This record gives sequence, C-alpha cells and structure tokens, in this order.
Amino acid sequence: MKGIILAGGTGSRLFPLTKVTNKHLLPVGKEPMIFHPLRKLIEAGIEEILIVTGVEHMGAVIGLLGSGYELGCRLTYRVQDQPGGIAQALALAEHFAAHDLMTVILGDNIFQSDLKGFIRRFEKQGSGARILLKQVPDPTRYGVVAFQEVSKDGQTSHVISDILEKPEQAPSDYAVTGIYGYDAEVFEIIRGLKPSTRNELEITEVNRAYLHAALLQHEVMPGWWTDAGTFDSWYYANSLMFQPSLLASENAD
Ligand code: G1P
Repeated sequence: MKGIILAGGTGSRLFPLTKVTNKHLLPVGKEPMIFHPLRKLIEAGIEEILIVTGVEHMGAVIGLLGSGYELGCRLTYRVQDQPGGIAQALALAEHFAAHDLMTVILGDNIFQSDLKGFIRRFEKQGSGARILLKQVPDPTRYGVVAFQEVSKDGQTSHVISDILEKPEQAPSDYAVTGIYGYDAEVFEIIRGLKPSTRNELEITEVNRAYLHAALLQHEVMPGWWTDAGTFDSWYYANSLMFQPSLLASENAD
C-alpha cells in the first residue's frame, strides 16, 4: 500500500494567508496542517508516501518534511506545475504507484479517528475504490452522495446511486471526505476525464467512474472530520485541536 498526499492548489479561499505560503503549511493546532494527514498514513503503517505540491512551495515543503526519516516514513515529491484539480495532481503519482493499491489523502483534511480500519478494509477489498463518508450540516460544499433504497430478500438497504460535486441542492447530507482508496486503474480513469466547469479534473468524476463500474465501496466515518480550506473550516479545525480534553491527553503523554 502506497500513500499519497495531495497538497497543491492556490489556497485562494484562505487569501491573503496563502499569498506567500502553501495552505498546507499553515498551523492547525501545534503543527503545520500537512502533518495531520501524514501522521494518519504513518500510524496506519504506510511507509512509502508521495507528496504532490505546486512548484512555488515545494522548497518549503521539503524543508519541513525532508526525507521523512524523522517521522518514520520515506517521502517522495512531485511538482504539480499548474493547479488543475485533485485528479490531475493524482495523475502525477503514476510512476510511484503504478502497480500498487494506494491511499490518497487531501493535505487539508483533518480526521479525529485513526484511518487504520479504513485502510485495512481497502487492502482486504484488494481492488476498485473505497470512499469514506461523513454526515455534515453543509453538504453543498463537498462531493455528496445520492442514495437509492434497494430491497432484497425482504431486507432494505441503501446503495450509492450517484456522486455530485458541490451540487446546488444536496441529494443527502453525506459528504465524501478527502481520503480515498484506489487501485492502479485510477490512472487510466484519469486519462479519460474532461475538465469540469471550474476547469479542474474532479476527483468526484474518478469516484463516479468506479461507481458506474460497480467497483466502489464506501463506509461512514466515526468521529469528527473537517477540511481546513476556508476560514471557517480552518478556524473549526484549530478549535478542535485546542479542545481542553485533547490538550489534557497530550500533556499526559
Ligand atoms: C474536494 C473534493 C470534494 C471533497 C472535498 C473534501 O473539494 O472536490 O469532492 O468532498 O475535497 O475535503 P475542494 O476542497 O476542492 O473544494
């Protein structure tokens, strides 16, 4: 299992904080934002990790993380020349993960619970894709799933029927969080994508391709989750990190 952290983009929603630095280097709690997804991968036993970021801030990211030796992993870096979306950034991982399963995390996603279970279950799944959902009060900010009720042998269950990127009207309040499990077919899928109206290769289109091929599995996440890509969510992420209960358990270590 390879790990990939996507940490590019302009961070325009956090301007001017991101004018001269990368969003993923801003503090969340006592550490730069990117430490949080990185630690989740390392805690789950992933040792080979690729970081994709823009050319302007690559030097600072390498200066911060180096070879990964101090953190207990081996880091590789790739430059995304122009911000062209999450799926375009992921395409740069092809050499790195051409024959492997991969866990992809967006560099601004902060998860409370550890991600070992999700990653183990994807390993067991062995192919296709796996996404992690979370019920949120503001689903139109995210990729959102639509569910369909299916009855079989007198039992009713809900299956995902579609995934929409930032829809005006959300079909459910289940957001697609920024952790994804993919097999190496993902690179072929990305080659077939067309840019969206915001001129990006959307990760939601990758997930839809797996869904339509009946190769997408999902689970719902326990614990809190937030991205930290807007002022509100960045503030929220920091407030979670400075909860007295979290600080108390940290100080007890
Ligand atoms: C991206 C994805 C979206 C996902 C979100 C999670 O949104 O496009 O599907 O729900 O990350 O953080 P963006 O941060 O680009 O607005």
